[in-house]
Amino acid sequence: MAEANGSKTQAQPVADVEELTASRAVLYPLLWGFAGSFVLRTAVVLGLPDIIARAGPDETLTVKQIAAQLKSECVNELGLQRVLTALVNWQLFRCTKAEMSEEMQYGLKPVSKLLVTENNPHNQAPVVLFQTDPAALAPWQQLHRYVLYGESAWQSAHGKELWTCLNDNPELNKCFNACMASSTTIDLSVLVREYEGFKDIKTLVDVGGGTGKTLETIISSYPHIHGINYDLPHVITDAPTIPGIEHVAGSMFESVPSGDTIFMKRIMHDWSDESCLKILNNCQKALPEKGKVLIHDCVLQQSGGLPQIYDMLMMAHCDGGMERREEQWRKLLTTAGFSTINFIELLQEQWLIEAFK
Ligand SMILES: C[S@@+](CC[C@H](N)C(=O)[O-])C[C@H]1O[C@@H](n2cnc3c(N)ncnc32)[C@H](O)[C@@H]1O
Repeated sequence: MAEANGSKTQAQPVADVEELTASRAVLYPLLWGFAGSFVLRTAVVLGLPDIIARAGPDETLTVKQIAAQLKSECVNELGLQRVLTALVNWQLFRCTKAEMSEEMQYGLKPVSKLLVTENNPHNQAPVVLFQTDPAALAPWQQLHRYVLYGESAWQSAHGKELWTCLNDNPELNKCFNACMASSTTIDLSVLVREYEGFKDIKTLVDVGGGTGKTLETIISSYPHIHGINYDLPHVITDAPTIPGIEHVAGSMFESVPSGDTIFMKRIMHDWSDESCLKILNNCQKALPEKGKVLIHDCVLQQSGGLPQIYDMLMMAHCDGGMERREEQWRKLLTTAGFSTINFIELLQEQWLIEAFK
């Protein structure tokens, strides 16, 4: 094609509009995935699931009825209605039309019932609150530094590692510990149902056990077990007294309390192979002949799903943390001197790995 000044340029190929729009339809929802995170956070911060749950099982409420229970004298009802619409469109809430009226009424679905904080043993709101906290989000901006220079994304964002930040910030520590305790409850219900090996255990040491929720759940089904909950001092300080459980403060990189079985849930995935080997060596020292470790973690499969998200989360939050495939687990455990290794699938993305000394 000749331009006005006489130079020639190539004709642009005609864009395949169908392909462009189809590609953009994949790109944009991924790009704005955080919109879902923040509408979830908004629902939890406003207490919308609790307000609707308080009205009674399977009740629905209008925007005005919900607005009347918010802690503000000047609620923006249109804003509230738009957030509720997003929650309905994203399959979290349901809505119906009130009888004899055009007014919409909003109710909970099983998924939003997980965000009810009152009288709900499976409350997941603390997970939403920690994972959308500015401190937990900042390292996501630094993932590229991990790739370019091997620098921990959390350290790049905060100048110190996650565990030091939690030690130095009691509010964030509480928020993190609550997140862990909440996110463990559903996994634990499945574990206790699926794994029969607990019946032969006398002393169970939960390494990195947080505030003791995991052991509490196991011991409520197996009351003969003596539980030792082992974690860093700032976590143990936050742990409640639980019958049958002894809380012990210390670092698993120094030593691990003795018991016939050592349990570790979401511990190995926080660390590099090198660090995991140090922990596993300390487990070896703490276990009797034929003792075992039980590792509750992901085993990466071919498909993406939640394990893929967790793998990126480990990259963002933990120095060297990663999810592992079965062969990586086997290599790690055999290097640490464990022999018989069994993989037991619990949920789609959660496994129990049983390894004997
Ligand atoms: C991802 S959380 C898992 C908590 C719990 N096991 C669960 O699944 O809910 C990791 C835990 O490891 C603990 N941790 C980190 N470094 C540790 C260390 N050096 N010694 C003992 N525990 C440690 C943290 O304080 C935290 O409670």
